[in-house]
Amino acid sequence: MQYKAVIFDLDGVLVFTDKYHYLAWKKLADRLGIEFTQKDNDRLRGVSREESLNIILEKYHGDPISDDKRKEYLKEKNDTYRESLGGMTRDDVTKEVRATLKKLREKGYLLAIGSSSKNTSYILERTELTDAFDAVSDGTMITRSKPDPEVFLKAAELLGMEPESCLVVEDADAGVTAAHAAGMDAAAIGTATLSGRADYNLTAFEDLLGILE
Ligand code: BG6
Ligand code: MG
Repeated sequence: MQYKAVIFDLDGVLVFTDKYHYLAWKKLADRLGIEFTQKDNDRLRGVSREESLNIILEKYHGDPISDDKRKEYLKEKNDTYRESLGGMTRDDVTKEVRATLKKLREKGYLLAIGSSSKNTSYILERTELTDAFDAVSDGTMITRSKPDPEVFLKAAELLGMEPESCLVVEDADAGVTAAHAAGMDAAAIGTATLSGRADYNLTAFEDLLGILE
């Protein structure tokens, strides 16, 4: 068997928090008079909060923004986002996702999270997903976010696995790049399927069971 472990991105793969990220950034962008569309939002998938703000501010043409102001914007966005996360429950994880994770474990695969988010533990707790994983590698443990491979290499290390034994599941182009840079294969879902750069394209989450015999 080629793979022994599966590393899952969180936002947009296991839970649909990508929608909450978008709405929180949109609220800030609207207040600052910056145009921000769903298409712009796709560039933010997988990248850190700080880098996301830099991307949004590319369309800002006002006075220079101080570091303190940037910190204020990052806090404002995260506060709005955390408010949405606060309403999440077990029901925010689909039956298909939960059942697929269970089946993969029964088949003997080790499962990890590889997410750029610093809110990972909170989301896993709210949705009662924590126990579904053998390791969690997230934004609080890394210095460089996707497309850098650091978060996935950290996940493999926590699992005690070689990179080539890990399959990454991603909705972000930056995540597919990060997986390949880590020496791992990538299965794309959603937006990440469009570029055709992943090793597998999933039309549904449970398609993973066809790849991982
Ligand atoms: C990633 C999201 O999972 O986490 C990005 O795809 C987000 O959109 C990044 O910017 C950082 O998230 P957080 O929760 O630390 O702001
Ligand atoms: Mg994602």
